[in-house]
Amino acid sequence: MTDTWINQVFCEDALAGLARIPDGSIDLILTDPPYNLGKDYGNASDQQTVDEYLRWTEQWIDAALPKLKPNGSLYIFLTWRFSPEIFVMLKKRMTMMNEIIWDRRVPSMGGSVRSFSSVHDTIGFFVRRKDYYFDLDSVRIPYDAETKKARSRSIFIGAKWLEVGYNPKDLWSVSRLHREHPERADHPTQKPLEIIERMVKASCPPDGVVLDLFMGSGTTAMAAKRCGRNFVGFELNPDYCAIIAERLAMADAPPPPEKKKPVPRAKRSLINS
Ligand SMILES: C[S@@+](CC[C@H](N)C(=O)[O-])C[C@H]1O[C@@H](n2cnc3c(N)ncnc32)[C@H](O)[C@@H]1O
Repeated sequence: MTDTWINQVFCEDALAGLARIPDGSIDLILTDPPYNLGKDYGNASDQQTVDEYLRWTEQWIDAALPKLKPNGSLYIFLTWRFSPEIFVMLKKRMTMMNEIIWDRRVPSMGGSVRSFSSVHDTIGFFVRRKDYYFDLDSVRIPYDAETKKARSRSIFIGAKWLEVGYNPKDLWSVSRLHREHPERADHPTQKPLEIIERMVKASCPPDGVVLDLFMGSGTTAMAAKRCGRNFVGFELNPDYCAIIAERLAMADAPPPPEKKKPVPRAKRSLINS
Protein backbone atom coordinates (compact mmCIF):
# COMPACT_ATOMS: atom_id res chain seq x y z
CA MET A 1 0.00 0.00 0.00
CA THR A 2 1.33 3.44 -0.83
CA ASP A 3 -1.04 5.60 1.22
CA THR A 4 0.84 8.02 3.46
CA TRP A 5 -1.25 7.18 6.53
CA ILE A 6 -0.77 3.40 6.48
CA ASN A 7 1.54 1.81 9.06
CA GLN A 8 2.04 5.12 10.86
CA VAL A 9 1.47 6.16 14.46
CA PHE A 10 0.98 9.93 14.53
CA CYS A 11 2.04 11.74 17.68
CA GLU A 12 -1.07 13.91 17.87
CA ASP A 13 -4.63 14.17 19.15
CA ALA A 14 -6.70 11.34 17.70
CA LEU A 15 -9.68 13.59 17.04
CA ALA A 16 -7.61 15.87 14.81
CA GLY A 17 -5.62 13.03 13.27
CA LEU A 18 -8.64 11.03 12.12
CA ALA A 19 -9.02 13.49 9.24
CA ARG A 20 -5.97 11.82 7.63
CA ILE A 21 -7.85 8.53 7.21
CA PRO A 22 -10.32 8.07 4.34
CA ASP A 23 -13.84 6.96 5.24
CA GLY A 24 -14.53 3.24 4.80
CA SER A 25 -10.86 2.23 4.81
CA ILE A 26 -10.48 0.44 8.15
CA ASP A 27 -11.18 -3.25 8.81
CA LEU A 28 -10.93 -3.14 12.58
CA ILE A 29 -11.01 -0.42 15.23
CA LEU A 30 -9.25 -1.87 18.26
CA THR A 31 -8.87 0.71 20.95
CA ASP A 32 -8.03 1.12 24.59
CA PRO A 33 -9.03 4.66 25.57
CA PRO A 34 -8.30 6.31 28.92
CA TYR A 35 -10.70 4.76 31.48
CA ASN A 36 -11.02 8.10 33.36
CA LEU A 37 -9.72 6.63 36.60
CA GLY A 38 -7.31 9.50 37.26
CA LYS A 39 -4.12 8.03 35.75
CA ASP A 40 -1.32 10.33 34.69
CA TYR A 41 -0.56 9.80 31.00
CA GLY A 42 1.29 13.13 30.84
CA ASN A 43 -2.02 14.71 29.78
CA ALA A 44 -5.45 15.24 31.37
CA SER A 45 -7.25 12.58 29.31
CA ASP A 46 -7.83 10.26 32.29
CA GLN A 47 -8.77 13.04 34.72
CA GLN A 48 -11.94 14.52 33.23
CA THR A 49 -15.28 15.14 34.91
CA VAL A 50 -17.79 12.39 34.17
CA ASP A 51 -19.78 14.66 31.84
CA GLU A 52 -16.66 15.80 29.96
CA TYR A 53 -15.41 12.24 29.65
CA LEU A 54 -18.67 10.85 28.26
CA ARG A 55 -19.09 13.80 25.87
CA TRP A 56 -15.52 13.37 24.62
CA THR A 57 -16.03 9.60 24.23
CA GLU A 58 -19.16 10.13 22.12
CA GLN A 59 -17.26 12.67 20.04
CA TRP A 60 -14.38 10.32 19.15
CA ILE A 61 -16.76 7.40 18.53
CA ASP A 62 -18.70 9.52 16.03
CA ALA A 63 -15.49 10.65 14.35
CA ALA A 64 -14.03 7.12 14.17
CA LEU A 65 -16.98 4.99 13.03
CA PRO A 66 -17.21 6.40 9.48
CA LYS A 67 -13.64 5.15 8.95
CA LEU A 68 -14.80 1.52 9.27
CA LYS A 69 -15.61 -0.64 6.26
CA PRO A 70 -19.21 -1.88 6.22
CA ASN A 71 -18.07 -5.39 7.27
CA GLY A 72 -15.67 -3.99 9.90
CA SER A 73 -15.66 -4.49 13.67
CA LEU A 74 -14.74 -2.61 16.82
CA TYR A 75 -13.24 -3.76 20.13
CA ILE A 76 -13.07 -1.33 23.04
CA PHE A 77 -11.34 -1.86 26.39
CA LEU A 78 -13.17 -0.40 29.40
CA THR A 79 -13.87 -1.11 33.05
CA TRP A 80 -17.16 -1.45 34.89
CA ARG A 81 -16.98 2.25 35.81
CA PHE A 82 -18.04 3.54 32.39
CA SER A 83 -18.71 0.45 30.27
CA PRO A 84 -22.50 0.65 30.91
CA GLU A 85 -22.75 4.19 29.51
CA ILE A 86 -20.31 3.60 26.64
CA PHE A 87 -21.84 0.28 25.59
CA VAL A 88 -25.22 2.01 25.35
CA MET A 89 -23.66 4.69 23.11
CA LEU A 90 -22.19 2.01 20.86
CA LYS A 91 -25.35 -0.11 20.83
CA LYS A 92 -27.20 2.85 19.31
CA ARG A 93 -24.73 2.80 16.43
CA MET A 94 -23.66 -0.87 16.04
CA THR A 95 -24.59 -4.44 16.99
CA MET A 96 -22.98 -5.77 20.16
CA MET A 97 -21.60 -9.31 19.71
CA ASN A 98 -19.79 -9.91 22.99
CA GLU A 99 -18.80 -8.54 26.32
CA ILE A 100 -15.40 -10.13 26.90
CA ILE A 101 -14.04 -10.26 30.42
CA TRP A 102 -10.28 -9.96 30.67
CA ASP A 103 -9.29 -11.62 33.95
CA ARG A 104 -5.94 -9.96 34.65
CA ARG A 105 -4.99 -12.80 37.00
CA VAL A 106 -4.36 -10.49 39.90
CA PRO A 107 -3.12 -12.44 42.94
CA SER A 108 -5.22 -12.32 46.13
CA MET A 109 -3.51 -9.72 48.29
CA GLY A 110 -5.25 -7.16 50.49
CA GLY A 111 -7.38 -4.94 48.24
CA SER A 112 -10.76 -3.35 48.93
CA VAL A 113 -12.41 -3.76 52.32
CA ARG A 114 -15.81 -2.18 51.51
CA SER A 115 -16.42 -3.90 48.16
CA PHE A 116 -15.07 -6.81 46.14
CA SER A 117 -11.65 -6.28 44.55
CA SER A 118 -11.94 -5.58 40.86
CA VAL A 119 -9.61 -7.82 38.87
CA HIS A 120 -10.98 -7.64 35.34
CA ASP A 121 -11.32 -5.27 32.39
CA THR A 122 -14.45 -5.26 30.23
CA ILE A 123 -14.08 -5.44 26.46
CA GLY A 124 -16.95 -4.72 24.05
CA PHE A 125 -16.99 -6.36 20.61
CA PHE A 126 -19.26 -4.60 18.09
CA VAL A 127 -20.00 -5.02 14.37
CA ARG A 128 -21.79 -3.00 11.74
CA ARG A 129 -23.44 -5.67 9.59
CA LYS A 130 -24.30 -9.37 9.65
CA ASP A 131 -21.57 -10.25 7.13
CA TYR A 132 -18.76 -8.96 9.36
CA TYR A 133 -15.33 -10.58 8.99
CA PHE A 134 -14.66 -13.20 11.68
CA ASP A 135 -12.09 -15.99 11.47
CA LEU A 136 -12.65 -18.22 14.48
CA ASP A 137 -10.33 -20.97 13.20
CA SER A 138 -7.32 -18.65 13.45
CA VAL A 139 -7.81 -18.22 17.22
CA ARG A 140 -9.06 -21.61 18.35
CA ILE A 141 -7.25 -23.08 21.36
CA PRO A 142 -5.87 -26.58 20.83
CA TYR A 143 -7.17 -29.31 23.14
CA ASP A 144 -4.45 -30.80 25.30
CA ALA A 145 -3.33 -34.40 24.83
CA GLU A 146 -5.29 -35.54 27.89
CA THR A 147 -8.60 -34.18 26.59
CA LYS A 148 -7.95 -35.65 23.15
CA LYS A 149 -7.24 -39.03 24.74
CA ALA A 150 -10.38 -38.86 26.86
CA ARG A 151 -12.37 -38.25 23.66
CA SER A 152 -10.71 -41.09 21.73
CA ARG A 153 -13.85 -43.33 21.71
CA SER A 154 -15.06 -44.19 18.26
CA ILE A 155 -17.94 -41.66 18.32
CA PHE A 156 -15.38 -38.84 18.51
CA ILE A 157 -13.01 -40.14 15.81
CA GLY A 158 -12.80 -37.66 12.98
CA ALA A 159 -14.62 -35.00 15.04
CA LYS A 160 -13.46 -31.74 13.46
CA TRP A 161 -13.88 -29.73 16.66
CA LEU A 162 -11.46 -32.03 18.47
CA GLU A 163 -8.79 -31.47 15.84
CA VAL A 164 -9.22 -27.71 15.32
CA GLY A 165 -9.45 -26.76 18.99
CA TYR A 166 -12.05 -24.82 20.94
CA ASN A 167 -13.59 -21.35 20.83
CA PRO A 168 -11.70 -19.08 23.31
CA LYS A 169 -15.09 -18.10 24.86
CA ASP A 170 -15.68 -14.69 26.42
CA LEU A 171 -13.61 -15.04 29.59
CA TRP A 172 -9.91 -14.51 28.86
CA SER A 173 -7.50 -15.29 31.68
CA VAL A 174 -4.21 -13.71 30.68
CA SER A 175 -1.78 -12.29 33.21
CA ARG A 176 -1.21 -8.53 33.14
CA LEU A 177 2.37 -7.54 32.31
CA HIS A 178 4.57 -7.51 35.38
CA ARG A 179 7.52 -5.10 35.64
CA GLU A 180 9.92 -7.97 34.89
CA HIS A 181 7.98 -9.26 31.86
CA PRO A 182 10.20 -9.17 28.71
CA GLU A 183 7.34 -7.57 26.74
CA ARG A 184 6.92 -4.75 29.25
CA ALA A 185 7.52 -1.13 28.11
CA ASP A 186 7.46 2.00 30.25
CA HIS A 187 3.70 2.62 30.02
CA PRO A 188 1.31 2.32 32.99
CA THR A 189 -1.51 0.46 31.22
CA GLN A 190 0.20 -1.58 28.51
CA LYS A 191 -1.93 -4.51 27.30
CA PRO A 192 -0.50 -8.00 26.61
CA LEU A 193 0.17 -8.84 22.95
CA GLU A 194 -1.55 -12.20 23.46
CA ILE A 195 -4.94 -10.53 23.89
CA ILE A 196 -4.58 -7.96 21.13
CA GLU A 197 -3.26 -10.53 18.65
CA ARG A 198 -6.30 -12.73 19.23
CA MET A 199 -8.59 -9.82 18.29
CA VAL A 200 -6.49 -8.89 15.26
CA LYS A 201 -6.41 -12.44 13.88
CA ALA A 202 -10.11 -13.02 14.45
CA SER A 203 -11.44 -9.69 13.20
CA CYS A 204 -9.02 -8.22 10.64
CA PRO A 205 -8.32 -10.07 7.37
CA PRO A 206 -4.68 -10.65 6.39
CA ASP A 207 -3.34 -7.42 4.82
CA GLY A 208 -6.27 -5.47 6.34
CA VAL A 209 -5.89 -2.30 8.44
CA VAL A 210 -6.32 -1.92 12.21
CA LEU A 211 -6.97 1.53 13.72
CA ASP A 212 -6.15 2.35 17.35
CA LEU A 213 -6.92 5.93 18.38
CA PHE A 214 -5.04 5.60 21.70
CA MET A 215 -1.82 3.68 21.02
CA GLY A 216 -0.09 4.06 24.41
CA SER A 217 3.03 1.92 24.07
CA GLY A 218 1.97 0.76 20.59
CA THR A 219 0.70 -2.74 21.40
CA THR A 220 -1.93 -2.65 18.64
CA ALA A 221 0.66 -1.61 16.04
CA MET A 222 3.02 -4.37 17.20
CA ALA A 223 0.25 -6.98 17.11
CA ALA A 224 -0.84 -5.91 13.63
CA LYS A 225 2.71 -6.09 12.36
CA ARG A 226 3.37 -9.50 13.91
CA CYS A 227 0.13 -10.85 12.40
CA GLY A 228 0.76 -9.52 8.88
CA ARG A 229 -1.83 -6.74 9.08
CA ASN A 230 -1.43 -2.96 8.63
CA PHE A 231 -2.03 -0.37 11.32
CA VAL A 232 -2.66 3.31 11.88
CA GLY A 233 -3.11 5.24 15.08
CA PHE A 234 -2.44 8.15 17.37
CA GLU A 235 -0.79 8.90 20.69
CA LEU A 236 -0.68 12.28 22.44
CA ASN A 237 2.32 11.79 24.72
CA PRO A 238 5.69 12.22 22.88
CA ASP A 239 7.47 9.93 25.39
CA TYR A 240 5.07 7.11 24.53
CA CYS A 241 5.50 7.89 20.82
CA ALA A 242 9.24 7.29 21.27
CA ILE A 243 8.48 3.94 22.95
CA ILE A 244 6.24 2.97 20.01
CA ALA A 245 8.97 3.82 17.50
CA GLU A 246 11.46 1.75 19.50
CA ARG A 247 9.13 -1.26 19.76
CA LEU A 248 8.33 -1.18 16.05
CA ALA A 249 12.02 -0.91 15.17
CA MET A 250 12.76 -3.92 17.36
CA ALA A 251 10.08 -5.89 15.54
CA ASP A 252 11.90 -5.08 12.27
CA ALA A 253 15.35 -5.99 13.57
CA PRO A 254 16.73 -9.43 12.68
CA PRO A 255 16.74 -11.83 15.67
CA PRO A 256 20.04 -11.84 17.59
CA PRO A 257 22.42 -14.67 16.56
CA GLU A 258 21.99 -17.77 18.70
CA LYS A 259 24.59 -17.94 21.44
CA LYS A 260 26.95 -20.88 20.95
CA LYS A 261 26.63 -23.37 23.79
CA PRO A 262 29.90 -23.71 25.73
CA VAL A 263 31.58 -26.97 24.82
CA PRO A 264 31.91 -29.29 27.88
CA ARG A 265 35.45 -29.64 29.17
CA ALA A 266 35.81 -33.34 28.22
CA LYS A 267 34.74 -32.73 24.61
CA ARG A 268 36.96 -29.66 24.38
CA SER A 269 40.08 -31.74 24.96
CA LEU A 270 38.95 -34.18 22.25
CA ILE A 271 38.50 -31.30 19.79
CA ASN A 272 41.96 -29.98 20.62
CA SER A 273 43.70 -33.36 20.38
C1 LIG B 1 -5.07 3.12 28.12
S1 LIG B 1 -3.74 3.86 27.32
C2 LIG B 1 -3.41 2.78 25.93
C3 LIG B 1 -2.47 1.66 26.28
C4 LIG B 1 -2.16 0.75 25.09
N1 LIG B 1 -3.29 -0.09 24.75
C5 LIG B 1 -0.94 -0.12 25.35
O1 LIG B 1 -1.03 -1.38 25.29
O2 LIG B 1 0.13 0.43 25.62
C6 LIG B 1 -4.47 5.28 26.59
C7 LIG B 1 -3.49 6.21 25.87
O3 LIG B 1 -4.25 7.22 25.18
C8 LIG B 1 -3.46 8.39 25.09
N2 LIG B 1 -4.37 9.51 24.76
C9 LIG B 1 -5.22 10.15 25.58
N3 LIG B 1 -5.93 11.08 24.92
C10 LIG B 1 -5.53 11.01 23.63
C11 LIG B 1 -5.92 11.70 22.43
N4 LIG B 1 -6.86 12.65 22.46
N5 LIG B 1 -5.32 11.36 21.28
C12 LIG B 1 -4.35 10.39 21.26
N6 LIG B 1 -3.95 9.72 22.34
C13 LIG B 1 -4.52 10.01 23.51
C14 LIG B 1 -2.82 8.46 26.46
O4 LIG B 1 -1.69 9.29 26.46
C15 LIG B 1 -2.53 6.96 26.77
O5 LIG B 1 -1.20 6.62 26.43
